[in-house]
Amino acid sequence: MTESAPKRLSRPASALAALVAVAALAAVAYLVWGGGGADGGAADPDDPAQVALGRAVYAEHCAACHGVNLEGQPDWRSRLPGGGLPAPPHDETGHTWHHPDQQLFEITKYGGARYAPPGFQSNMPGFGEAASDAELWAALAYIMRSWPDKIRIRQNGIDRRARAAR
Ligand code: HEC
Repeated sequence: MTESAPKRLSRPASALAALVAVAALAAVAYLVWGGGGADGGAADPDDPAQVALGRAVYAEHCAACHGVNLEGQPDWRSRLPGGGLPAPPHDETGHTWHHPDQQLFEITKYGGARYAPPGFQSNMPGFGEAASDAELWAALAYIMRSWPDKIRIRQNGIDRRARAAR
């Protein structure tokens, strides 16, 4: 045993103070740098493990509507006879990259109705019951991975401005 161990144990107050200081710093860092979404997650298209998970989540939960290759449904800008819209593409030809990360996450978790204008019938279900937050962030990372650099940079800018406004 080292000699310093009992000494440290005899000073629990300073140890606690140090812990509190570390926790406070972490909280400040989280607030300042965002730490991803308010739900504690983040999409990182440069993280191969997250993208691999996202590919599987996408195939299971998203591809049926948004297309196996993120291509969306045909004629996705035209209203359906019953109201609402077909599923849009998630690749760079779509509209997905116009949104900040947190908004994409909330649409995915809670459904399209969350951001739909009043009276609009959303056909985008929420996946909060079917998948974990980590899985949903991963699906978004997989989607972002498909965007060319130019689009990724623009979406990063949109995301940064939204974070700054929060
Ligand atoms: C049942 C079909 C369906 C499934 C399954 C589905 N979506 Fe959607 N999604 C839609 C439709 C339709 C829209 C268009 C907006 C609306 O109707 O609210 C949409 C819109 C979105 C948007 C907003 C795009 C934009 O440009 O505004 C995101 C993000 C999205 N979906 C993500 C996902 C993800 C991620 C999954 C899988 C976890 C998924 N969706 C599964 C039908 C679906």
